[in-house]
Amino acid sequence: MKIGCPTEIKPQEFRVGITPSAAQEAVVHGHEVLIQANAGHGAGFEDHHYVAAGARIVETAEELFESAEMVVKVKEPQAGERRMLREGQLLFTYLHLAPDPEQTRDLLASGATCIAYETVTDDRGGLPLLAPMSEVAGKLAPQVGAWTLQKANGGRGVLLGGVPGVLPARVVVIGGGVVGTQAARVAAGMGASVTVLDRSLNRMRYLDDVYAGAFKTAYASSANTAALVAEADMVIGAVLIPGAAAPKLVSREQLSTMKPGAAIVDVAIDQGGCFETSRATTHQDPIYDVDGIMHYCVANMPGAVARTSTIALGNATMPYMLALADKGWRQACADDPHLLNGLNVHAGKLTYYAVGRALGMDVTSPQLVLKT
Ligand SMILES: NC(=O)c1ccc[n+]([C@@H]2O[C@H](COP(=O)([O-])OP(=O)(O)OC[C@H]3O[C@@H](n4cnc5c(N)ncnc54)[C@H](O)[C@@H]3O)[C@@H](O)[C@H]2O)c1
Repeated sequence: MKIGCPTEIKPQEFRVGITPSAAQEAVVHGHEVLIQANAGHGAGFEDHHYVAAGARIVETAEELFESAEMVVKVKEPQAGERRMLREGQLLFTYLHLAPDPEQTRDLLASGATCIAYETVTDDRGGLPLLAPMSEVAGKLAPQVGAWTLQKANGGRGVLLGGVPGVLPARVVVIGGGVVGTQAARVAAGMGASVTVLDRSLNRMRYLDDVYAGAFKTAYASSANTAALVAEADMVIGAVLIPGAAAPKLVSREQLSTMKPGAAIVDVAIDQGGCFETSRATTHQDPIYDVDGIMHYCVANMPGAVARTSTIALGNATMPYMLALADKGWRQACADDPHLLNGLNVHAGKLTYYAVGRALGMDVTSPQLVLKT
């Protein structure tokens, strides 16, 4: 199969859909890999790395979309890219269609088959192509929060780990899933005193078994949340209710109970955020002040560490990319129901129920599409 990887054109996106090592695997499997010139530059992969891996460099996105049978990307295709997709072509990337009717309409009109990273599932009920980015964002959260706490950035002027004779900062993590666990591990590793709040007792049992000693857990009742947030130097928002907007767990009123200059890092901002006062920010202008509390709410945190994120994403997507290329999407999805869960659009039909519900559009069962 001809697999093509274009340069990402969404603003501030430095990741790339195929790493040189994934390109090499695909070449070993007998596929032809086309990479747009400079596509990997932002992640530290140059054209010569891809050439050494056996890929071919093409100059323009037009040329790439024209020849590739499967297009592998990171972000959802932008309007100009969607116009280049064609019937019978396979698109494998993050799509996030539920809040995006315009993109959904364009993908349906293109006639292409579109598999979304974020809806591919695994045997443990997880989202294996979303998890690596949650791991990255979780590990970044205490790092950016520590920077936000610095005096020059409007913060409390508190060092996360303290020093001998000075207590460490108190960090509260709301949500103990993938983001929350990684955030708590790093904050504890930096020497902070960390508490993770969750509503899943099973999840807290797991965290307590594995991380007892490193950080504590507490049930996320309103009362516990309010009390712990009031004492915190840093609060990290990491909740997720799949398919829904993040619940607002800390109100604007509660900010007045917090320590002046405390830092909020709302990782859940991509689902609307779990603080009433959160609004999405960018890497260029990541923090803002509400009532003396510093908010960091960057919606694409992994972009800050494009190289690590690209490699982590590539490790996760490669086996699926190879299955799609080796077998064709129909057979690959027939063999793996978890990959079939990634099918969002095929030949003008929407095939993902949650997206149909969100956008009020008709959905065709992916199993039916597979048979016809
Ligand atoms: N900003 C970014 O760049 C970025 C990057 C990656 C992930 N995210 C977002 O981070 C959020 C967390 O992702 P994840 O992969 O850790 O999800 P996850 O499903 O692994 O974990 C979510 C946790 O939240 C808990 N939870 C749900 N409701 C709660 C409540 N009311 N109080 C306390 N805990 C509650 C769940 O029990 C679960 O343990 C998501 O919104 C995700 O989209 C953002």
